[in-house]
Amino acid sequence: MNDTFLRACRGEKTDYTPVWFMRQAGRYLPEYQAIRGKVSFLELCKNPELCTEVSIQPVDILDVDAAIMFSDILIPMEAMNLRLEFHEGRGPVFPDPIRDRQGVDDLLVPDPDEAMPFVMETIRLLRRELKVPLIGFSGAPFTLATYLIEGGSSKVFLETKRMMYQAPELYDALLAKITECTSLYLQAQARAGAQALQIFDSWAGVLAPGDYQCFALPYVQSIISDLRKVTDIPIIYFANNGATLIESTRTAGADVLGLDWRIDIKDAVARVGDHAVQGNLDPVALFLPRDKLEARIKRLLDNAAGARGHIFNLGHGILPQTPPEQARIAVEAVHRFSGR
Ligand code: CP3
Repeated sequence: MNDTFLRACRGEKTDYTPVWFMRQAGRYLPEYQAIRGKVSFLELCKNPELCTEVSIQPVDILDVDAAIMFSDILIPMEAMNLRLEFHEGRGPVFPDPIRDRQGVDDLLVPDPDEAMPFVMETIRLLRRELKVPLIGFSGAPFTLATYLIEGGSSKVFLETKRMMYQAPELYDALLAKITECTSLYLQAQARAGAQALQIFDSWAGVLAPGDYQCFALPYVQSIISDLRKVTDIPIIYFANNGATLIESTRTAGADVLGLDWRIDIKDAVARVGDHAVQGNLDPVALFLPRDKLEARIKRLLDNAAGARGHIFNLGHGILPQTPPEQARIAVEAVHRFSGR
Protein backbone atom coordinates (compact mmCIF):
# COMPACT_ATOMS: atom_id res chain seq x y z
CA MET A 1 0.00 0.00 0.00
CA ASN A 2 1.16 3.53 -0.79
CA ASP A 3 1.07 5.07 2.71
CA THR A 4 2.76 8.39 1.83
CA PHE A 5 -0.43 10.33 2.54
CA LEU A 6 -0.87 8.77 6.00
CA ARG A 7 2.78 9.38 6.88
CA ALA A 8 2.51 13.04 5.90
CA CYS A 9 -0.63 13.39 8.04
CA ARG A 10 1.33 12.10 11.02
CA GLY A 11 4.26 14.43 10.35
CA GLU A 12 6.57 11.54 9.41
CA LYS A 13 9.21 11.82 6.69
CA THR A 14 8.03 10.97 3.18
CA ASP A 15 9.86 10.34 -0.11
CA TYR A 16 7.70 12.91 -1.88
CA THR A 17 4.70 15.16 -1.22
CA PRO A 18 1.40 13.28 -1.42
CA VAL A 19 -1.48 14.90 -3.28
CA TRP A 20 -5.25 14.50 -3.60
CA PHE A 21 -8.00 16.97 -4.52
CA MET A 22 -11.13 17.83 -2.58
CA ARG A 23 -14.16 16.80 -4.68
CA GLN A 24 -11.86 14.71 -6.87
CA ALA A 25 -14.75 12.28 -7.47
CA GLY A 26 -17.23 14.30 -9.46
CA ARG A 27 -18.59 16.19 -12.38
CA TYR A 28 -15.34 17.31 -14.07
CA LEU A 29 -14.77 13.65 -15.00
CA PRO A 30 -16.67 12.32 -18.05
CA GLU A 31 -16.44 8.90 -16.40
CA TYR A 32 -18.45 10.27 -13.44
CA GLN A 33 -20.95 11.98 -15.75
CA ALA A 34 -21.54 8.68 -17.53
CA ILE A 35 -22.68 7.08 -14.27
CA ARG A 36 -24.58 10.18 -13.05
CA GLY A 37 -26.45 10.21 -16.37
CA LYS A 38 -28.19 7.01 -15.31
CA VAL A 39 -29.04 7.70 -11.64
CA SER A 40 -29.94 10.68 -9.47
CA PHE A 41 -27.31 12.06 -7.09
CA LEU A 42 -29.01 10.57 -4.01
CA GLU A 43 -29.42 7.19 -5.74
CA LEU A 44 -25.71 7.29 -6.51
CA CYS A 45 -24.86 8.11 -2.88
CA LYS A 46 -26.89 5.08 -1.70
CA ASN A 47 -25.40 2.56 -4.15
CA PRO A 48 -22.14 1.12 -2.73
CA GLU A 49 -21.01 -0.45 -6.01
CA LEU A 50 -21.41 2.82 -7.93
CA CYS A 51 -19.91 4.87 -5.05
CA THR A 52 -16.91 2.56 -5.10
CA GLU A 53 -16.53 3.00 -8.84
CA VAL A 54 -16.64 6.81 -8.80
CA SER A 55 -14.30 6.96 -5.78
CA ILE A 56 -11.70 4.92 -7.67
CA GLN A 57 -12.00 6.87 -10.94
CA PRO A 58 -9.78 9.82 -9.88
CA VAL A 59 -7.21 7.47 -8.33
CA ASP A 60 -6.78 5.68 -11.65
CA ILE A 61 -7.09 8.73 -13.89
CA LEU A 62 -5.06 11.27 -11.89
CA ASP A 63 -2.65 9.04 -9.90
CA VAL A 64 -3.47 10.77 -6.60
CA ASP A 65 -2.12 9.42 -3.31
CA ALA A 66 -5.44 9.08 -1.45
CA ALA A 67 -9.05 8.25 -2.25
CA ILE A 68 -12.04 9.94 -0.65
CA MET A 69 -15.20 7.90 -0.36
CA PHE A 70 -18.01 9.15 -2.54
CA SER A 71 -20.94 10.49 -0.52
CA ASP A 72 -22.15 13.90 0.64
CA ILE A 73 -21.94 15.72 3.96
CA LEU A 74 -25.75 15.95 4.03
CA ILE A 75 -26.41 12.19 3.89
CA PRO A 76 -26.40 11.81 7.72
CA MET A 77 -28.75 14.80 8.00
CA GLU A 78 -31.32 12.91 5.96
CA ALA A 79 -30.78 9.98 8.34
CA MET A 80 -31.71 12.31 11.23
CA ASN A 81 -35.25 12.30 9.85
CA LEU A 82 -35.09 15.23 7.45
CA ARG A 83 -36.38 15.46 3.92
CA LEU A 84 -33.41 16.13 1.57
CA GLU A 85 -33.60 16.91 -2.13
CA PHE A 86 -30.95 17.83 -4.68
CA HIS A 87 -32.16 20.20 -7.38
CA GLU A 88 -30.23 20.48 -10.64
CA GLY A 89 -28.37 23.80 -10.63
CA ARG A 90 -29.55 24.79 -7.15
CA GLY A 91 -27.83 22.24 -4.96
CA PRO A 92 -29.25 20.73 -1.78
CA VAL A 93 -32.68 21.67 -0.42
CA PHE A 94 -34.26 20.85 2.93
CA PRO A 95 -37.95 21.67 2.31
CA ASP A 96 -38.67 21.75 6.07
CA PRO A 97 -35.93 23.92 7.60
CA ILE A 98 -35.37 23.77 11.35
CA ARG A 99 -36.27 27.01 13.08
CA ASP A 100 -37.91 26.02 16.39
CA ARG A 101 -37.82 23.66 19.35
CA GLN A 102 -40.21 21.17 17.75
CA GLY A 103 -37.91 20.89 14.74
CA VAL A 104 -34.97 20.10 16.98
CA ASP A 105 -36.95 17.61 19.10
CA ASP A 106 -38.10 15.75 15.97
CA LEU A 107 -34.50 15.05 14.92
CA LEU A 108 -33.29 11.50 15.50
CA VAL A 109 -29.74 10.55 16.37
CA PRO A 110 -29.47 7.46 14.17
CA ASP A 111 -27.33 4.37 14.58
CA PRO A 112 -25.07 4.97 11.55
CA ASP A 113 -24.60 1.28 10.76
CA GLU A 114 -28.38 0.80 10.60
CA ALA A 115 -29.38 4.10 8.99
CA MET A 116 -26.49 4.40 6.50
CA PRO A 117 -25.34 0.84 5.77
CA PHE A 118 -24.52 1.89 2.18
CA VAL A 119 -21.76 4.22 3.44
CA MET A 120 -20.12 1.51 5.53
CA GLU A 121 -20.45 -0.97 2.67
CA THR A 122 -18.78 1.54 0.29
CA ILE A 123 -15.87 1.82 2.72
CA ARG A 124 -15.50 -1.96 2.97
CA LEU A 125 -15.64 -2.39 -0.83
CA LEU A 126 -13.13 0.41 -1.38
CA ARG A 127 -10.67 -1.05 1.10
CA ARG A 128 -10.61 -4.28 -0.91
CA GLU A 129 -9.86 -2.44 -4.15
CA LEU A 130 -7.61 0.47 -3.23
CA LYS A 131 -3.83 0.65 -3.17
CA VAL A 132 -3.88 4.14 -1.62
CA PRO A 133 -5.39 5.16 1.75
CA LEU A 134 -9.12 5.82 2.03
CA ILE A 135 -10.40 9.07 3.53
CA GLY A 136 -13.84 9.12 5.19
CA PHE A 137 -15.52 12.42 5.97
CA SER A 138 -18.32 14.41 7.50
CA GLY A 139 -19.43 18.01 7.60
CA ALA A 140 -18.64 20.04 10.72
CA PRO A 141 -21.68 20.77 12.92
CA PHE A 142 -21.81 24.49 12.13
CA THR A 143 -21.63 23.93 8.35
CA LEU A 144 -24.29 21.21 8.56
CA ALA A 145 -26.51 23.43 10.72
CA THR A 146 -26.45 26.20 8.11
CA TYR A 147 -28.11 23.88 5.59
CA LEU A 148 -30.71 22.69 8.11
CA ILE A 149 -31.59 26.17 9.34
CA GLU A 150 -31.49 27.98 5.97
CA GLY A 151 -33.16 25.09 4.15
CA GLY A 152 -30.30 24.92 1.63
CA SER A 153 -27.29 26.91 0.49
CA SER A 154 -27.00 30.54 1.58
CA LYS A 155 -24.91 33.66 1.07
CA VAL A 156 -25.55 35.73 4.22
CA PHE A 157 -26.74 33.04 6.67
CA LEU A 158 -29.39 35.31 8.12
CA GLU A 159 -31.52 32.57 9.74
CA THR A 160 -28.49 30.73 11.14
CA LYS A 161 -27.01 33.82 12.76
CA ARG A 162 -30.43 34.97 13.93
CA MET A 163 -30.86 31.70 15.82
CA MET A 164 -27.32 31.92 17.22
CA TYR A 165 -27.78 35.46 18.48
CA GLN A 166 -31.45 35.45 19.49
CA ALA A 167 -32.02 31.86 20.61
CA PRO A 168 -28.59 30.56 21.69
CA GLU A 169 -30.12 27.72 23.73
CA LEU A 170 -32.11 26.47 20.77
CA TYR A 171 -29.01 26.79 18.56
CA ASP A 172 -26.97 24.80 21.09
CA ALA A 173 -29.64 22.08 21.33
CA LEU A 174 -29.62 21.72 17.53
CA LEU A 175 -25.83 21.70 17.32
CA ALA A 176 -25.56 19.18 20.15
CA LYS A 177 -27.78 16.76 18.24
CA ILE A 178 -25.87 17.24 14.97
CA THR A 179 -22.62 16.78 16.91
CA GLU A 180 -23.75 13.49 18.46
CA CYS A 181 -24.89 12.20 15.07
CA THR A 182 -21.62 13.24 13.39
CA SER A 183 -19.49 11.79 16.16
CA LEU A 184 -21.18 8.37 15.89
CA TYR A 185 -21.06 8.56 12.09
CA LEU A 186 -17.30 9.17 11.94
CA GLN A 187 -16.64 6.46 14.52
CA ALA A 188 -18.63 4.03 12.37
CA GLN A 189 -16.58 5.00 9.30
CA ALA A 190 -13.37 4.29 11.23
CA ARG A 191 -14.74 0.88 12.30
CA ALA A 192 -15.69 0.11 8.70
CA GLY A 193 -12.12 0.78 7.56
CA ALA A 194 -11.62 4.48 6.79
CA GLN A 195 -7.90 5.23 7.23
CA ALA A 196 -8.21 8.99 7.78
CA LEU A 197 -11.15 11.31 8.41
CA GLN A 198 -11.72 14.82 7.10
CA ILE A 199 -14.19 17.21 8.71
CA PHE A 200 -15.40 19.82 6.19
CA ASP A 201 -16.27 23.20 7.75
CA SER A 202 -17.06 24.88 4.44
CA TRP A 203 -18.76 27.92 5.96
CA ALA A 204 -16.60 28.52 9.06
CA GLY A 205 -15.16 31.63 7.39
CA VAL A 206 -18.46 33.52 7.46
CA LEU A 207 -18.23 33.83 11.26
CA ALA A 208 -16.49 36.54 13.25
CA PRO A 209 -13.59 34.93 15.17
CA GLY A 210 -15.40 35.33 18.51
CA ASP A 211 -18.55 33.74 17.13
CA TYR A 212 -16.52 30.92 15.60
CA GLN A 213 -15.06 30.21 19.06
CA CYS A 214 -18.51 30.15 20.70
CA PHE A 215 -20.74 28.71 18.02
CA ALA A 216 -18.61 26.37 15.87
CA LEU A 217 -15.31 25.27 17.41
CA PRO A 218 -16.57 23.54 20.63
CA TYR A 219 -18.67 21.05 18.62
CA VAL A 220 -15.69 20.12 16.42
CA GLN A 221 -13.51 19.70 19.53
CA SER A 222 -16.11 17.38 21.03
CA ILE A 223 -16.26 15.16 17.91
CA ILE A 224 -12.48 14.89 17.69
CA SER A 225 -12.04 14.13 21.39
CA ASP A 226 -14.68 11.35 21.08
CA LEU A 227 -12.82 9.95 18.07
CA ARG A 228 -9.49 9.96 19.91
CA LYS A 229 -10.95 7.56 22.48
CA VAL A 230 -11.68 4.89 19.86
CA THR A 231 -9.23 5.36 16.97
CA ASP A 232 -5.79 6.76 16.19
CA ILE A 233 -6.31 7.39 12.46
CA PRO A 234 -5.33 10.89 11.26
CA ILE A 235 -7.98 13.60 11.43
CA ILE A 236 -8.00 16.53 8.99
CA TYR A 237 -9.99 19.63 9.84
CA PHE A 238 -10.73 21.98 6.93
CA ALA A 239 -12.16 25.34 7.97
CA ASN A 240 -12.70 27.05 4.63
CA ASN A 241 -11.84 30.76 4.49
CA GLY A 242 -10.22 30.23 7.88
CA ALA A 243 -7.03 32.30 7.68
CA THR A 244 -8.23 34.55 10.49
CA LEU A 245 -9.23 31.53 12.61
CA ILE A 246 -5.98 29.52 12.75
CA GLU A 247 -5.26 30.37 16.40
CA SER A 248 -8.65 28.77 17.12
CA THR A 249 -8.66 25.92 14.59
CA ARG A 250 -5.30 24.69 15.88
CA THR A 251 -7.08 23.88 19.15
CA ALA A 252 -9.67 21.66 17.45
CA GLY A 253 -7.57 18.57 18.12
CA ALA A 254 -6.91 17.55 14.51
CA ASP A 255 -3.60 16.22 13.15
CA VAL A 256 -3.85 18.17 9.90
CA LEU A 257 -5.30 21.61 9.17
CA GLY A 258 -6.75 22.10 5.71
CA LEU A 259 -6.02 25.52 4.19
CA ASP A 260 -7.88 27.47 1.54
CA TRP A 261 -5.89 29.57 -0.97
CA ARG A 262 -6.51 32.94 0.67
CA ILE A 263 -3.48 32.51 2.94
CA ASP A 264 0.14 32.07 1.87
CA ILE A 265 1.02 28.56 3.00
CA LYS A 266 4.28 29.87 4.48
CA ASP A 267 2.35 32.15 6.84
CA ALA A 268 0.03 29.31 7.77
CA VAL A 269 2.91 26.94 8.49
CA ALA A 270 4.33 29.50 10.91
CA ARG A 271 1.02 29.61 12.78
CA VAL A 272 -0.23 26.01 12.92
CA GLY A 273 2.17 24.76 15.61
CA ASP A 274 2.89 21.04 15.29
CA HIS A 275 0.08 20.34 12.80
CA ALA A 276 0.64 19.05 9.31
CA VAL A 277 -1.00 21.20 6.63
CA GLN A 278 -3.10 20.35 3.59
CA GLY A 279 -3.62 22.64 0.62
CA ASN A 280 -3.78 25.15 -0.82
CA LEU A 281 -3.68 25.83 -4.58
CA ASP A 282 -6.46 28.05 -5.93
CA PRO A 283 -8.75 25.66 -7.86
CA VAL A 284 -8.76 28.15 -10.74
CA ALA A 285 -4.97 27.75 -11.09
CA LEU A 286 -5.75 24.43 -12.79
CA PHE A 287 -6.90 26.49 -15.79
CA LEU A 288 -3.44 28.08 -16.27
CA PRO A 289 -1.14 27.06 -19.12
CA ARG A 290 1.16 24.24 -18.11
CA ASP A 291 4.32 26.31 -17.45
CA LYS A 292 2.48 28.80 -15.22
CA LEU A 293 0.63 26.05 -13.37
CA GLU A 294 3.87 24.19 -12.73
CA ALA A 295 5.59 27.38 -11.52
CA ARG A 296 2.80 27.92 -8.96
CA ILE A 297 3.04 24.34 -7.79
CA LYS A 298 6.80 24.64 -7.39
CA ARG A 299 6.42 27.86 -5.39
CA LEU A 300 3.75 26.33 -3.17
CA LEU A 301 5.89 23.27 -2.44
CA ASP A 302 8.87 25.51 -1.60
CA ASN A 303 6.75 27.69 0.68
CA ALA A 304 5.45 24.63 2.54
CA ALA A 305 8.94 23.18 3.00
CA GLY A 306 9.03 24.05 6.71
CA ALA A 307 5.77 22.23 7.49
CA ARG A 308 5.69 19.27 9.88
CA GLY A 309 3.94 17.48 7.03
CA HIS A 310 2.41 18.72 3.79
CA ILE A 311 -0.37 17.11 1.81
CA PHE A 312 -0.78 18.93 -1.47
CA ASN A 313 -4.39 19.77 -2.30
CA LEU A 314 -6.50 22.55 -3.72
CA GLY A 315 -7.75 25.32 -1.45
CA HIS A 316 -11.31 24.07 -2.01
CA GLY A 317 -13.10 21.61 -4.26
CA ILE A 318 -12.06 21.04 -7.86
CA LEU A 319 -14.38 22.97 -10.17
CA PRO A 320 -16.72 21.03 -12.49
CA GLN A 321 -15.31 22.95 -15.51
CA THR A 322 -11.74 21.71 -14.86
CA PRO A 323 -10.16 19.78 -17.75
CA PRO A 324 -9.15 16.40 -16.24
CA GLU A 325 -5.85 16.55 -18.15
CA GLN A 326 -4.92 19.73 -16.21
CA ALA A 327 -5.57 17.96 -12.89
CA ARG A 328 -3.37 15.10 -14.05
CA ILE A 329 -0.59 17.53 -15.00
CA ALA A 330 -0.78 19.06 -11.52
CA VAL A 331 -0.50 15.70 -9.75
CA GLU A 332 2.47 14.73 -11.90
CA ALA A 333 4.16 18.08 -11.21
CA VAL A 334 3.69 17.74 -7.43
CA HIS A 335 5.26 14.29 -7.56
CA ARG A 336 8.15 15.34 -9.81
CA PHE A 337 9.07 18.57 -7.98
CA SER A 338 8.91 16.88 -4.56
CA GLY A 339 11.22 14.06 -5.60
CA ARG A 340 9.18 11.03 -6.62
O1 CP3 B 1 -14.60 14.91 -2.43
C1 CP3 B 1 -15.11 13.97 -3.06
O2 CP3 B 1 -14.77 13.65 -4.21
C2 CP3 B 1 -16.16 13.13 -2.38
C3 CP3 B 1 -17.52 13.53 -2.60
C4 CP3 B 1 -18.11 14.76 -1.97
C5 CP3 B 1 -19.28 15.37 -2.50
N1 CP3 B 1 -19.68 16.35 -1.65
C6 CP3 B 1 -19.97 14.94 -3.73
C7 CP3 B 1 -20.94 15.84 -4.37
C8 CP3 B 1 -17.78 15.47 -0.81
C9 CP3 B 1 -16.59 15.30 0.12
C10 CP3 B 1 -18.78 16.47 -0.63
C11 CP3 B 1 -18.79 17.39 0.51
C12 CP3 B 1 -19.76 18.49 0.53
N2 CP3 B 1 -21.06 18.49 0.13
C13 CP3 B 1 -19.50 19.75 1.10
C14 CP3 B 1 -18.20 20.15 1.76
C15 CP3 B 1 -17.15 20.46 0.77
C16 CP3 B 1 -17.30 21.78 0.09
O3 CP3 B 1 -17.38 21.76 -1.15
O4 CP3 B 1 -17.33 22.81 0.77
C17 CP3 B 1 -20.66 20.52 0.98
C18 CP3 B 1 -20.84 21.96 1.44
C19 CP3 B 1 -21.65 19.71 0.38
C20 CP3 B 1 -23.07 20.05 0.10
C21 CP3 B 1 -23.37 19.98 -1.34
N3 CP3 B 1 -23.46 18.82 -2.08
C22 CP3 B 1 -23.63 21.06 -2.20
C23 CP3 B 1 -23.64 22.52 -1.79
C24 CP3 B 1 -23.87 20.52 -3.47
C25 CP3 B 1 -24.33 21.26 -4.69
C26 CP3 B 1 -23.27 22.09 -5.24
C27 CP3 B 1 -22.42 21.27 -6.15
O5 CP3 B 1 -21.21 21.29 -6.04
O6 CP3 B 1 -23.06 20.65 -7.04
C28 CP3 B 1 -23.71 19.11 -3.38
C29 CP3 B 1 -23.85 18.12 -4.47
C30 CP3 B 1 -22.66 17.24 -4.72
N4 CP3 B 1 -21.90 16.62 -3.77
C31 CP3 B 1 -22.18 16.84 -6.00
C32 CP3 B 1 -21.11 15.96 -5.78
C33 CP3 B 1 -20.30 15.24 -6.82
C34 CP3 B 1 -22.78 17.23 -7.34
C35 CP3 B 1 -23.96 16.38 -7.56
C36 CP3 B 1 -24.15 16.03 -9.02
O7 CP3 B 1 -23.56 15.05 -9.48
O8 CP3 B 1 -24.96 16.72 -9.67
